[in-house]
Amino acid sequence: MVGGILLAATAVYLALAQAPEPVAAANPKVFVYETVKEYPHDPTAFTQGLEFEPRCTKDAKGVETCVDAFWESTGMRGESQLRRVDLATGQATHQSQLPNEDFGEGLSSFGDRLVQLLWLTNKVYIYPKGDLTTRTEGRTPLRDGWGITSNGSALVVSDGSTMLHWLHPDTLQSIRSVQVTDGGKPVRYLNELEWVNGEVWANVWQTECIARIDPASGHVRGWMLLHGLRAQAIQAGRSQNTRIDVLNGIAHDPATGRVFVTGKYWPRLFEIRPKAMPRRAASARLENVRQQCIF
Ligand SMILES: *[C@@H]1O[C@H](CO)[C@@H](O)[C@H](O)[C@H]1NC(C)=O
Repeated sequence: MVGGILLAATAVYLALAQAPEPVAAANPKVFVYETVKEYPHDPTAFTQGLEFEPRCTKDAKGVETCVDAFWESTGMRGESQLRRVDLATGQATHQSQLPNEDFGEGLSSFGDRLVQLLWLTNKVYIYPKGDLTTRTEGRTPLRDGWGITSNGSALVVSDGSTMLHWLHPDTLQSIRSVQVTDGGKPVRYLNELEWVNGEVWANVWQTECIARIDPASGHVRGWMLLHGLRAQAIQAGRSQNTRIDVLNGIAHDPATGRVFVTGKYWPRLFEIRPKAMPRRAASARLENVRQQCIF
């Protein structure tokens, strides 16, 4: 008996010593949101990528003035564009039309340039920020382009799968890839991406869920539930259009911490403030959240 226990204990010890278990991921937090402010958004923009960056101009005396603004990539064949859009008005101050065969996808600002993905191809467009009319082409090692962001030194790209890919910003070659999981389950359809305080935020396509992902392990650290926002957009735009599609487009202003979201053909863009649910309420809700956010 004692021998058996010892043997079993030894076997367990050996198993642990030989194959150290990866550290189990803590349960993700659950976040809800408050709407801080609503802004107008062009209801003809099929938003695919959104990046916050103030737009600054100099007057004749060289005095600089800046307004809150975005870079925005829009999709649909024949309608795809890259735009510079002011926050307050929702109006584009600059725009560049894509060739009819291209379907714009995610967009990232990197230094003095912009990288725009296209759907169902590895082709990307690279623009100098100062002149949106002079784009050049690049190729990624991926088969498709959905969302893109940057961690400051590398690009992070999603391709509609469960993977995030780190690409070199100059060569676009792959540096590393990580699978995104929650509770051991892969999370698919990662769409628009945003780097926020050391996390990758990813909008899960066809849902109102944003996954907050640990870039090192790929574990979902938090689920942000934006349910109700699309309904607000529909209500706001009822008289203008009936084709309001899914949530897409996350932008973060690192200087003020503001978070902005919008969607495809949404007549509104929202500044939101995520609020963590109390731990007990979040764990009671978690299985339900996973059912809504993971396919
Ligand atoms: C960004 O990604 C690259 C490639 O994995 C890595 O070398 C770098 O440390 C990352 N930077 C941050 C801030 O995570």
